[in-house]
Amino acid sequence: MSYNLKEIRSVILPELEQFEEHFKLAIKSRIPLLDKISLYIIKSKGKQFRPMLSMLCSKMCGEINKNSFTAATMVELLHTATLVHDDVVDDSDQRRGFFSINALWKNKIAVLVGDYLLSKGLLIALQDNQFEMLKILSQAVSDMSEGELLQLEKARRLDITKDIYYQIIRQKTASLIAVSCQCGGISVTNDQNVLMNLQEFGINLGIAFQIKDDLMDLGTSTFLGKPKIQDIREKKMTLPLILALQNAPPSISKDIIGGIRNDSENEKIIRTTVEFIHKYNGVSQATEEMNQYRDKALEQLHNFPENEARESLRKLCYFVTEREN
Ligand code: IPE
Ligand code: IPE
Ligand code: MG
Ligand code: MG
Repeated sequence: MSYNLKEIRSVILPELEQFEEHFKLAIKSRIPLLDKISLYIIKSKGKQFRPMLSMLCSKMCGEINKNSFTAATMVELLHTATLVHDDVVDDSDQRRGFFSINALWKNKIAVLVGDYLLSKGLLIALQDNQFEMLKILSQAVSDMSEGELLQLEKARRLDITKDIYYQIIRQKTASLIAVSCQCGGISVTNDQNVLMNLQEFGINLGIAFQIKDDLMDLGTSTFLGKPKIQDIREKKMTLPLILALQNAPPSISKDIIGGIRNDSENEKIIRTTVEFIHKYNGVSQATEEMNQYRDKALEQLHNFPENEARESLRKLCYFVTEREN
């Protein structure tokens, strides 16, 4: 059951093209340096997963309108801002198959560009009087910062548990994905029950989305567009590693943790850790857990009217767990 993004996109193609125009307009600036970087961001666009979600949720629950574009633009702006900052935090030089902003313009500029995009995302909601959207979006921004900081703290102490891992990914990734669904919904309905179901759908899909991202970091995809085996290097404790540490004999796990603690950038230690993760079923078990969250998201879809958009969202759930980038 494999679906590609092109097929899913085709259902909302004109709307996505319109969204891209909104997005371009939103990040235009009269400051030459900023405008140059904005053009670079537009050129190196990503999958546009969040705007797609938001559009499809609007379409599933009603009729796409002006406010649906506000929702889609807002979430992609916020997402882009966090990626620009994330690459500074993770010291990463590649994004979407291109150099990252920090690689080309250095950290100082990347931090400020991230701030600019973040503020634009919030301002758009305000300009269009979308206060409900603004409220939940601001909450997601705060969740994301907390999630990334909690992750950094755990990378220092290396004492993460599965519960904390799930808290981190709920905050840093699932919150914005849920908000993308909710804002899509808000643009077409104020039925609180519908909006709650959209949130629940988004949280589960968002958790699956981040587990997949963590699996792809260990995987073999040649289309990833960002550096691989980066998480161990950064001392990031992701689900496959946490599960392998739980499964292995304690003395072996202790050695692995010791290696990461002392020299996580050492190629031999990285290789040993990757082998360890595979050997103690970290990858297979994390895949199972990911699929459970995807299935929860799929179940949620039954609460919505059966239509073409719902069918695309169903395919999107499978895309999340089977993608190669
Ligand atoms: C990457 O998100 C960051 C995570 C939350 C894992 P995407 O995989 O949606 O990135 P782009 O926008 O397609 O590049
Ligand atoms: C997701 O985590 C980051 C954000 C939510 C901004 P990662 O650090 O794993 O994302 P990638 O792998 O760099 O895209
Ligand atoms: Mg990163
Ligand atoms: Mg990652």
